[in-house]
Amino acid sequence: MKKLNAKFWERRWQEQQTGWDIGQASPPLMQYAERLLNQNPRILIPGAGRAYEAIALHQLGFTQVYVCDWVDSAFDHLRQTAPDFPKDHLLVSDFFDLPLSEELDLILEQTFFCAIDPSLRPRYVEKTHSMLKPGGRIAGVLFARPFPFEGPPFGGTKTEYETLFSSHFTILNLDISPDSIAPRLGNELFVELLK
Ligand SMILES: C[S@@+](CC[C@H](N)C(=O)[O-])C[C@H]1O[C@@H](n2cnc3c(N)ncnc32)[C@H](O)[C@@H]1O
Repeated sequence: MKKLNAKFWERRWQEQQTGWDIGQASPPLMQYAERLLNQNPRILIPGAGRAYEAIALHQLGFTQVYVCDWVDSAFDHLRQTAPDFPKDHLLVSDFFDLPLSEELDLILEQTFFCAIDPSLRPRYVEKTHSMLKPGGRIAGVLFARPFPFEGPPFGGTKTEYETLFSSHFTILNLDISPDSIAPRLGNELFVELLK
């Protein structure tokens, strides 16, 4: 089993092995988040990488968007593309060490959950739950099936996710996303979870 520590991810970024990167803000996440502009929610995008969604939301006028990644250089794209994005909203940290407690309205999930070791999934559930305000939500996409190779990415099934998340969240949506990019269409579930 690979050790998915900061070094592992730094190497992936240095060697430009970023095959997960879809080169644009993820349509299902954007369609969900854009509707919330008037509320200007406090949003975290964990394992954000090039953070296309954060850049797009920032450009739409959202002012409370935070991104977290273990690898500082992952944010180079954001720094170059959105130089006025608040520097203190770039959280270079292990997601599991973020010192946030009941502060977020929304966590946007785009290929972070699938990047962590599956043994950490219960911790992901606890951590996201602890960072969200009561009534806060997770929204985003999860792969709809397991992969026939060792991850990352690590997939899963709707049933597995239901069992995992229902311990802490009310599941509002967990169905195939109609808005995924073409290569992932049919292979992603849109997830919306309520604390
Ligand atoms: C599969 S990539 C996804 C990046 C981005 N969400 C995207 O879809 O393009 C996973 C990202 O999570 C970061 N990462 C992995 N484990 C992490 C952790 N424990 N804390 C913070 N970031 C982490 C990696 O550095 C990497 O940038």
